Amino acid sequence: MTRFIQVFCILFILLLTQVVLARKTSMKPSKPCKRIVLYLHDTMFNGTNGFNATSATVANGTKLGNFKFGLLAVFDDPMTIDNHLLSPPVARAQGFYFYDMKTTYNAWFGYSLIFNSTKYKGTINIMGADMMDETTRDLSVVGGTGDFFMTRGIATFRTDIFQGFAYFRVQMDIKLFECY
Ligand SMILES: *[C@@H]1O[C@H](CO)[C@@H](O)[C@H](O)[C@H]1NC(C)=O
Ligand SMILES: *[C@@H]1O[C@H](CO)[C@@H](O)[C@H](O)[C@H]1NC(C)=O
Ligand SMILES: *[C@@H]1O[C@H](CO)[C@@H](O)[C@H](O)[C@H]1NC(C)=O
Ligand SMILES: *[C@@H]1O[C@H](CO)[C@@H](O)[C@H](O)[C@H]1NC(C)=O
Repeated sequence: MTRFIQVFCILFILLLTQVVLARKTSMKPSKPCKRIVLYLHDTMFNGTNGFNATSATVANGTKLGNFKFGLLAVFDDPMTIDNHLLSPPVARAQGFYFYDMKTTYNAWFGYSLIFNSTKYKGTINIMGADMMDETTRDLSVVGGTGDFFMTRGIATFRTDIFQGFAYFRVQMDIKLFECY
């Protein structure tokens, strides 16, 4: 009988710790510890607009499908707090994207947001799929440095404007769920 009680107690304690652990790691998606909304402006280099371009194709698309499959672009884009291209940038987005879907426009982004202002110093590193047919897309915030040390969260993309291949503007709603 005492043995049964012992086993029962151990099982109960195990169950309790599981519950506590589960509680501890659960996150409330509605309550980020920090939220930053910024606009990315991507002006593609076309051979003559070197002064204003912030993005360039480094590998052209292939003939697989009709959606630029394989096209790789590297960018150093300004990020502003409103949607005006000429507003003072508060950060830069540096990285790349490539088109990776045969049947529709779909890109994969990997980049750093680099902050170097009086408000923030540091980087936020973001990667994930940009399924352009969707109104909003969630990319992962996989880490950060400086003021964003070890952060994680979600960056929600919303296309603000798309002017062919020459210029696009994306609103990024960055919600951080781990802040130190
Ligand atoms: C490149 O873009 C600039 C600015 O939009 C435009 O004036 C120019 O005609 C374009 N050049 C080509 C080759 O498309
Ligand atoms: C390029 O940038 C300059 C300076 O900001 C601006 O005056 C000009 O209109 C821009 N050109 C284009 C084609 O956007
Ligand atoms: C890239 O591919 C497109 C479409 O296949 C073609 O029109 C364009 O000329 C190519 N550009 C370069 C620089 O090869
Ligand atoms: C950050 O800003 C400071 C002050 O404007 C400047 O001296 C420094 O070079 C900048 N660093 C980078 C990496 O841009």
